[in-house]
Amino acid sequence: MTTSNRIHRFDYLVLGSGIAGLFFALKAAPHGRVAIVTKKTSAESNTNYAQGGIASVTSKEDSFELHVRDTLTAGAGLCREAVVRAIVQEGPPRIAELIELGMKFSEREVPAAAGCRELDLGKEGGHSKRRILHAKDVTGREIERALLAAAEQRVCIEMFENHLAIDLVTTQKLGLTGPNRCLGAYVMAKATGAVELFAASTVVLATGGCGKVYLYTTNPDIATGDGVAMAYRAGASVANMEFIQFHPTCLYHPKAKSFLVSEAVRGEGAVLRTYEGKEFMDAHHPLKSLAPRDIVARAIDSEMKRSGSDHVYLDITHKPARFIMNRFPNIYRTCLEYGLDITKDMIPVVPAAHYQCGGVVTNVDGETEIGGLYAIGEVACTGLHGANRLASNSLLEAIVCAHRAARHALSQRQPPPQLTIPPWQSGDAHNPDELVVVSHLWDEIRRLMWDYVGIVRTHKRLQRAHKRILNLQAEIQEYYWDFIVTADLLELRSIATVAELIVRCAMMRPESRGLHYNLDCPEPDSAWAQRDTLLRKEP
Ligand code: FAD
Ligand code: SIN
Repeated sequence: MTTSNRIHRFDYLVLGSGIAGLFFALKAAPHGRVAIVTKKTSAESNTNYAQGGIASVTSKEDSFELHVRDTLTAGAGLCREAVVRAIVQEGPPRIAELIELGMKFSEREVPAAAGCRELDLGKEGGHSKRRILHAKDVTGREIERALLAAAEQRVCIEMFENHLAIDLVTTQKLGLTGPNRCLGAYVMAKATGAVELFAASTVVLATGGCGKVYLYTTNPDIATGDGVAMAYRAGASVANMEFIQFHPTCLYHPKAKSFLVSEAVRGEGAVLRTYEGKEFMDAHHPLKSLAPRDIVARAIDSEMKRSGSDHVYLDITHKPARFIMNRFPNIYRTCLEYGLDITKDMIPVVPAAHYQCGGVVTNVDGETEIGGLYAIGEVACTGLHGANRLASNSLLEAIVCAHRAARHALSQRQPPPQLTIPPWQSGDAHNPDELVVVSHLWDEIRRLMWDYVGIVRTHKRLQRAHKRILNLQAEIQEYYWDFIVTADLLELRSIATVAELIVRCAMMRPESRGLHYNLDCPEPDSAWAQRDTLLRKEP
């Protein structure tokens, strides 16, 4: 990697091109020049793989009150109710905007009104009503298509693909006194390896989650927690990182990498069965296979440990083949490629890391503790999800908070900073033989997190993980300062930081709540209801 003196100046710098970053960019574009920096191609994001859909109240049988109640119940006492109410109530106008921007949701015939159509509503775990708007089983792909097409038409938006944000530039890092303020970011252009400076008075972290911290995940390769790591290094608080959501049904197949089988499949009647073919969820929750995700994932984990099997089954074979193929065309086609006809065969599934409920601390307008820095989407911890996210609430949170952040940033606009920001500094040693160290450390962290900080934790496992992560961090730091950095090394640094934050938050919470389950303290402790685990790097 080389240092470049190239400086890009924009009014708004958006890091990430998933739903949160694109929605923000579209809102900001009428008011200034917007750069979207994204580390792969523009569509590559967690958003692109979303299947189930977006939860929002749109039917007469439903109400805001019910959606709020379901969200609070899933969140196990840790949601911020005012945030939940704001996000739930602001869903419908944002959905209308998505449709105006070109998003096509699935529709169905209105019963008893031939020729009339209405939005088709899916159901997922923990929802008391049908309220999931979807585009068959490829909702995220359709969102990215629509938002990217709209962004391409805005001359004020410039997209920088294959550009990896490395670190935020803040007044504190420059040694300036006064409240900490974000001035931009150092970004590596992957094609040349040059690190360039992007300066802006408003910087938006929309970098998504951190599934790649775990060995098994539903997330694509981009999900390395870079945003949380950058914000933490810059001095922002990070909260509730112990609440990693494991999705119960990731396809179990030696050749399938991270393929999700949507919860909507259970919403349409699929049931979980043991390796031997017996239903088992009735012993765990009255909602059986549609219980909240934390309960289903733990029940599967316990069933796999009991039987010694390496997966359980999801069974939708009792539904008509035509219905399955029409409602879940992507899941049907993909499974068929792996030799499974889901209209006839049960689907082997396992839980996998899926969603980061904690993140950079923000209010509902996406404001972080650092002036001029916003965090929106999965990277942020607004208080909506508490200890466990209700299915399909994340896409909703992303559009509501992106809208609010854009409105807030506009009201706070400041002239662009006129400071001299030094170019990026890095080590200059180059030794390709050592690259094996980077890939080894990647594997080690991901396996360690899966084995010791997974669905079921213990004090001892957490302590072990903590000790090991600190050693690995030291190795990575040494490597980082000596060698010319690569994208792999930068992402390794992120997953190591995020792994440390997850372990430290998990060690701080002396109870089990929502997604954090510790065998040594298996019950919730009322003293910890409403308490977040907070971490902040000392300057
Ligand atoms: P993302 O969509 O992940 O976008 C992050 C962006 O940041 C990407 O463009 C990435 O390349 C970029 N980026 C990251 N780091 C850097 C860096 N250092 N420099 C530059 N760019 C960077 N939620 C629901 O509500 N409903 C669903 O049905 C649903 N289904 C899901 C299915 C799957 C398989 C997965 C993985 C998740 C699902 N989720 C679902 C969760 C939801 O998709 C995500 O929480 C949401 O899309 C996050 O949006 P985002 O914009 O915050 O981040
Ligand atoms: C799914 O389709 O099962 C994923 C939904 C979500 O994560 O919200």
